Amino acid sequence: MIQETLVTTINLQGDTHIAPMGVHVEQDQYIILPFRPSTTLDNLLVNKTAVINYCDDVRIFAGCLTGRRDWPLLPAQQVAGYYLADTLAHTELQLVRIEDDDTRPKLFCRAVHTVNHKPFQGFNRAQYSVLEAAILISRLDRLPGEKIQAELDYLRIGLDKTAGERERQAWDWLMAAIEQHRRGVQV
Ligand SMILES: Cc1cc2nc3c(=O)[nH]c(=O)nc-3n(C[C@H](O)[C@H](O)[C@H](O)COP(=O)(O)O)c2cc1C
Repeated sequence: MIQETLVTTINLQGDTHIAPMGVHVEQDQYIILPFRPSTTLDNLLVNKTAVINYCDDVRIFAGCLTGRRDWPLLPAQQVAGYYLADTLAHTELQLVRIEDDDTRPKLFCRAVHTVNHKPFQGFNRAQYSVLEAAILISRLDRLPGEKIQAELDYLRIGLDKTAGERERQAWDWLMAAIEQHRRGVQV
C-alpha cells in the first residue's frame, strides 16, 4: 500500500526539508522512492533518518510544491529530525538499506517510533482533489496540457462540493502555479 505523506528530513546544518512523498508501507517496513535529484534523498543519505507525517492539512502538500515550505515543526523523539506540528500522527524512521538507481533509488526504512496526536477526521473529496492536483503540478513538464486540464476539471467537482477553507486555499495556490507555468514562469 502506498500512503501519501509528508516526509521531513534534515541536512547536515540541521535545517528541515519537507516533501510530499508516496511511501510504500509493508508491515513495519517503509520504502521511500525519491526521483533524482532530491533533497530528501540527499538528507536521508547523510543522516539516515526521516519522519513520515500523516497530515490532513492539504495546504502543506500544495504549499511545498508552490514555494511555501515554512510550516511549524516540533522535535522528533527518537531520531534526529522534526515532525509537523499540525500532523495527525507521525512515524520516526531509520534508514536500513538502499537499492540504488539512476532515476529513482529505493530507500528501505524501519519504523522506530510512532505517535498519534489527533484523531483521523474521515475522508474528504476536496483533500483528494488537492493531492491529485499537487501530483499533476509536480509533473507539469512531463504531461500534456490537455490531460492536465481534463483532470483538473474532474477534480474540481469534488473540490466545489466538499472543500473547507484549507482545501480552497491549497487549490488556489495550485491553480496560480499552473497559470504561471502556462505563462512560461518557472514554478
Ligand atoms: C502526493 C504527492 C506524492 C509524491 N510522491 C513522490 C514520490 O514518491 N517521489 C518523488 O520523488 N516525488 C514525489 N512527489 C513530488 C515531490 O514532492 C516533489 O517533486 C519534491 O520537490 C521532491 O523533491 P525533494 O526531495 O527535492 O523535495 C509527490 C508529490 C505529491 C503531491
